[in-house]
Amino acid sequence: MIKGKSLIEVNDFSLEEIDDLLSFAGKIIDSEKNYSGLCKGNLIATLFYEPSTRTKFSFESAILRLGGQVIGFADAMTSSVSKGESLIDTIQTISCYADLIIMRHPKEGAPKLASKNSSVPIINGGDGGHQHPTQTLTDLLTIRQLKGPISNFTIGLCGDLKFGRTTHSLTKILLKYPDINFVFISPEELRIPEYIKEGISNNRYQETFSLESCIDTLDILYMTRIQKERFFSEEEYLRLKDSYILDMNIMKMAKNDMIVMHPLPRVNEIATEVDQDDRAVYFKQAKYGMYVRMALISKILGKGGN
Ligand code: NCD
Repeated sequence: MIKGKSLIEVNDFSLEEIDDLLSFAGKIIDSEKNYSGLCKGNLIATLFYEPSTRTKFSFESAILRLGGQVIGFADAMTSSVSKGESLIDTIQTISCYADLIIMRHPKEGAPKLASKNSSVPIINGGDGGHQHPTQTLTDLLTIRQLKGPISNFTIGLCGDLKFGRTTHSLTKILLKYPDINFVFISPEELRIPEYIKEGISNNRYQETFSLESCIDTLDILYMTRIQKERFFSEEEYLRLKDSYILDMNIMKMAKNDMIVMHPLPRVNEIATEVDQDDRAVYFKQAKYGMYVRMALISKILGKGGN
């Protein structure tokens, strides 16, 4: 049961709970109007210590579409954080006002610390280079809606697999689903961390630098941006930033029913010409992100059934 739970890492929920959540999101997609008053009287807080477009606005649209309300900040420096208030004190205060707190923080582990000091559930909206569980729920819903059951496919994760937290959460959960093969496509310096690969048997994954060499084997291509803000040196970033640029020439080599996903924001890694291709689903994915968050908020607040 999700009611009252915090979501810090993707494995905090069982596959059964995730399945239930995705089914509920599917119902909301089919008849959104039926749910427009579901969270009337509820108030959520969005505390963003790092920039965000989709995560923040999709959470805010989600609660507003459910009839609830939202408070929060997009820049911690407009709050008492600028006076030196600790994260723990901020959380203890906000949890007096809101029923649920969504937070994004540059420090890995900050949402976990917050959850230990909060009287209301906390949802991790991304912590440093660690995890981004609600992006993963978005990704799972996208796959389920567009490709069918989450099983029996090959997914290529491409780009910055070292710092890209969305690829960490997604890999961690997909390895629990049946018959999924992974191709990790990255420069040597930005390879997926060992602790994320742990638990995937050797015959279920491969690592390569070359997107062209494997794109014809993929059912899903998950592109990511090079995470500039997490690099220690500007020089290193400049050297690696254009490692991948997916354009129509490369798309020609892909299967006709492959889908291209991307958590967004994109920088250079997908040429805008690809947007016109039916296989490019990243803006649909952003929309599914709102629906899955509607389902998540209602379930955590105990409004979406068990
Ligand atoms: C991602 C993030 O914040 O990790 N964005 C998002 O929430 N959709 C991806 C990124 O910033 O590259």
